[in-house]
Amino acid sequence: MCGIMGYTGRDDCLGTIVNGLARLEYRGYDSAGVAVISPDAEITIHKKAGKLANLRDTLPEGGVAGTCGIGHTRWATHGVPNDVNAHPHLDPTGTLAVIHNGIIENYEQIKSELRERRGAVFTSDTDTEVIAHLVAALYEGSLPAAVRAATKRFEGQFAFAVVDIRQPDVIVAAKRSAPMILGHLEDGSMLSSDVAGLIEHTREVEALLDDQIAILTPEGITVTDLDGAASEGHRYTVDWDVEAAEKQGYDTFMLKEIHEQPQAVSDTLLGRVDADGRIVLDQLDFDPALLRATDKIYVVACGTSYHAGMVSKYAIEHWARIGVEVEFASEFRYRDPILTRSTLVVAISQSGETADTIAAAEYAKAQGARVVAVTNIVGSTLARTADATVYTRAGLEVAVASTKAFTTQIIALSVLALFLAQERREMFAEECRDMLDRMEALPALMHQVLEQEEHIAELARRWADAQYVMFIGRQVGLPLALEGALKLKEISYIHAEGFASGEMKHGPIALIDEGGPVIALATEGHVKSKVVSNIQEVRARGAQVLLVATEGDTEVKAHADHVIYVPDVHELLYPVLTVLPLQLIGYHMAVELGRDVDQPRNLAKTVTVE
Ligand code: F6R
Repeated sequence: MCGIMGYTGRDDCLGTIVNGLARLEYRGYDSAGVAVISPDAEITIHKKAGKLANLRDTLPEGGVAGTCGIGHTRWATHGVPNDVNAHPHLDPTGTLAVIHNGIIENYEQIKSELRERRGAVFTSDTDTEVIAHLVAALYEGSLPAAVRAATKRFEGQFAFAVVDIRQPDVIVAAKRSAPMILGHLEDGSMLSSDVAGLIEHTREVEALLDDQIAILTPEGITVTDLDGAASEGHRYTVDWDVEAAEKQGYDTFMLKEIHEQPQAVSDTLLGRVDADGRIVLDQLDFDPALLRATDKIYVVACGTSYHAGMVSKYAIEHWARIGVEVEFASEFRYRDPILTRSTLVVAISQSGETADTIAAAEYAKAQGARVVAVTNIVGSTLARTADATVYTRAGLEVAVASTKAFTTQIIALSVLALFLAQERREMFAEECRDMLDRMEALPALMHQVLEQEEHIAELARRWADAQYVMFIGRQVGLPLALEGALKLKEISYIHAEGFASGEMKHGPIALIDEGGPVIALATEGHVKSKVVSNIQEVRARGAQVLLVATEGDTEVKAHADHVIYVPDVHELLYPVLTVLPLQLIGYHMAVELGRDVDQPRNLAKTVTVE
């Protein structure tokens, strides 16, 4: 969600803050703003609805003098995205300014109290303005003390930062269930809602923990708990650099990330076998007896990660012979699931900061289940919450539409499935090793698919004026159909749906009209002939069909208007290849329509609110 930046040091802060916001803009881009404490201890605020570019246009040419400031890009929760609701927000006397990510759930109650007791007048529709008013009301000579007292009053999930002209080189930050990362510089201190905002300056970071307060000064950062006792966040070194946060010659981050997938998959497979040829997951050190006793797995995730979870169900059930249920993290804890010591919960999240997934993991732990996180971000809240973590090594994913996170999640989950199969003695070590060898061959095969980009783009451009697109598949093709549809709808805004192809005749086939585009996954496997029958059914009703099929399958051509071929692999490994044309179709349809693929409307990366 919203992007947060803060800097206090010896240099003017504006450039550092705005550059950091540019790296965070994928988190939210409804409006942007900065607050800088000027040398004569005044707060200068600039804020503007729309993207960061709009804010940049309003900034004075010579910049704004001041070495301490905060900045924000917004994904609106309370109040429409306009100039007034943009952050930072001021207290009534203009003494302090606040930026905020997340939701203060009891803001209406606090607002009423402030109105009644202090005659407060609020100028925006945001919950953020309540933070500014309450911190000001509780100020008794110490900004950290006021922030601590205010934080105790707040309910919800939030991270916020405050500057105050009475302590002009200090930034105070607080957080609960939303990320806040601190950067220790040689000559100053920084904060950001994401390491991407800090990476240009430092790779040594500290994640603030829930209900901690950080006090940033040019000399360094102090962390306390809500009672003021000294405390410490989670320190770690970021393992990617500033290059990862650049487009490197690609038109968009999404296209760059699509093409980074072979490397990301290869990285995710590194070091998964020990000298004896056994699969190892070094961050998963459960007692083997516990793994053998596991009788149920729940996979919880959201969006694209949920689709990767659906793919993993087939692999875990087939290889490790444990029943798997895949659930939306946002539904999981509201339906009283049966969780015991023998239940394993696998929580998947690229960012490791998705509020629903973290809440599902916390809930599962509280009920006695063991939780394995599958995440891309070392030091993320989900990784810290889980009992064990399997890291994907996708590197920084900037585009809002997830691509390389998906393929690396499938790989990490497949390795986890093989590990479980090995530990539970459902597969011989050689069988596991053989499957891993096949996975290691995937990056080269992915390159072969990506080399067909121009052909795929040409097909995509033809369909850019479609009113709807249907994706159909069976078995592992089903999550792929859902993912293909999600990708297309989120970046092109074309109505797209994914269906189990066997379900078409139970209802969705009614939607088919003459020339309506259907994309079908019909790679080799035990359900291919079934998918082909389903394709014939939609073609008989006028659909135009694009097939994703296995190289060498010439027969299937007769049932399609267009075919994209992918190399032949093990049935359960196809998703890593078949998703590539689907991503490229979505991408090129969106580009043809002139969409902003990296920052599609209404969306934001890293959904830190429920
Ligand atoms: C879609 C997309 C989202 C995310 C979802 C979960 O392209 O990116 O659906 O997959 O918001 O995010 P993470 O994996 O960070 O928990």
